[in-house]
Amino acid sequence: MGSSCFSRGNKKTVGFIQNYLKEKGLTDEIVLKGAHCMGECDKGPLVEIDGELFHHVTDSMLQEIFDSKLGYTAD
Ligand code: FES
Repeated sequence: MGSSCFSRGNKKTVGFIQNYLKEKGLTDEIVLKGAHCMGECDKGPLVEIDGELFHHVTDSMLQEIFDSKLGYTAD
């Protein structure tokens, strides 16, 4: 939630993640929290998942990452 990532779209990203977790019924299973600047502002917006950093994230990219990590497959 650093200012650079925020201005590059992380407000929208947070909304996407919250909706994804709600739709999948995972709000009590997954911890979502904001972080301060990670020092890679030129690669933002950034999202860290299980210690792995993802750069230039988009909603579609997150959808693929979450589906893959959580074992959901496309119908
Ligand atoms: S604000 Fe996101 S890495 Fe700096």
